[in-house]
Amino acid sequence: MYKFDQNETPLFDALMEYVNRETIPFHVPGHKKGIGMDEEFKNFIGENAFKIDVTVFKLVDSLHHPTGPIKKAQELAADAYGSDAAFFSMHGTSGGIQAMIMSVVSAGDTIIVPRNVHKSVTAGIILSGAIPVYMQPELDKNVGIAHGVTPETVEETLKENPHAKAVLIINPTYYGVATDIKKISEIVHSYDIPLIVDEAHGPHLGFNDKLPTSAMEAGADICAQSTHKIIGALTQCSLLQVRSKYVDVHRVQQVLNLLQTTSPSYILMASLDCARRQIALHGEELLNKAIELANYARNEINKIPGFYCFGKEILGKPGVYALDPTKITITCRDLGITGYDLDMILSNKYHIQMELSDLYNVLAVGSFGDTKESIDKLISALKEISNDYASKETKKPDFIDIPDIPKQVQIPRDAFNSPKVSMPLNESIGMISGEFLLAYPPGIPVLCPGEVITEDIVNYVQELKDAGLYVQGTEDPKVENIKVVDK
Ligand SMILES: Cc1ncc(COP(=O)(O)O)c(C=O)c1O
Repeated sequence: MYKFDQNETPLFDALMEYVNRETIPFHVPGHKKGIGMDEEFKNFIGENAFKIDVTVFKLVDSLHHPTGPIKKAQELAADAYGSDAAFFSMHGTSGGIQAMIMSVVSAGDTIIVPRNVHKSVTAGIILSGAIPVYMQPELDKNVGIAHGVTPETVEETLKENPHAKAVLIINPTYYGVATDIKKISEIVHSYDIPLIVDEAHGPHLGFNDKLPTSAMEAGADICAQSTHKIIGALTQCSLLQVRSKYVDVHRVQQVLNLLQTTSPSYILMASLDCARRQIALHGEELLNKAIELANYARNEINKIPGFYCFGKEILGKPGVYALDPTKITITCRDLGITGYDLDMILSNKYHIQMELSDLYNVLAVGSFGDTKESIDKLISALKEISNDYASKETKKPDFIDIPDIPKQVQIPRDAFNSPKVSMPLNESIGMISGEFLLAYPPGIPVLCPGEVITEDIVNYVQELKDAGLYVQGTEDPKVENIKVVDK
């Protein structure tokens, strides 16, 4: 049960009041309710959006120092998600993740993170000056993707690094796979430190029992959620949820003020206010519909020769504790085409745009914006593609086991700020990498900035290239040269 009336949308209401007052604008933005806007753009967007494109003033409150409707809107978001405090992150989850890291670790502190983090985690580590210790996620060679880290991995890493100041995990993954986050939360708290969760792909989890446990339900201390990715907020809008036992809520606000624009979009913030109302009041039924449609898609696609969508049968594999059924990973390995090929065919021939593709898979993100009609169009396109390619039997190779994590001799911040030179990869053994090097699949870095390049890594890159697998991350797209720290 909620503490507050989740029907309320205080920020949206304040904007409506501004509109209804027919306020004369002598404030930015300069288009002044759209009057000064390019006509073609205005005609397309419609007039209403411009009427609420305002700036900071008392009636509509300030994101940096909220005392009015934004404060109330954030309190409603905390109530909906069961946290002690919530913050609007108008730089997406990327900005939220940087803020989470900077809120809990400082220069020289150790933070434990999975090896395959989003680049915003690396940005947070660079900005804070923290020292990362990496955990390997679990690899699924069949579908060529990385799942979560297991509680055992977290426990072992903490045993080896008892001085760590925080642990960060990604949960669920982009592909909707969740680890045993409750257990991880207990382990992390037994060291009296906070658990940070990159919940970019889970802003809907707490609103339907058929979905994996959310970070806040599991006892995590701070999480960032891409409300724009899965639920109804406009692009760029994310939420940061905080529990105050291990995290200083005031510091989070201060850090957000350092990182965020002083001109956040009120259109975006209002969409977030209303998206929170929608998920809080109608989440369960809306998500039931999304889950039903996604399960229908999964079942139908699994009947098509050459395609496979994983589901409940992978539960219990390492790193797979629960699944978000709204994520539909379509593996096309057996059809002899890559996920990149499938993505292009769907886009160019059928005008169906997938969320992402990798060597073996394309990912369809399901949501309560889907319709049976759109799902059926996807299924029928896949049937045609299956017929077109069924005869070509060139199964792609397994990915090759990645070498051990190399020695880190410079923290990411120092490596980022050091002068660098480019040199041939096979002459770089013993040098300090100034770049990332990633193998696809499974998208886990074999090298991060500040780490020593080993012979194993150079040989591995050659092996990947020989097998027709993808290596990337370096400025040189062919990965023949790498930037190293200039001693
Ligand atoms: C795991 C993960 N974390 C963080 C982000 C960043 O989220 P945003 O696009 O909201 O900045 C993404 C984006 O795709 C992601 O996949």
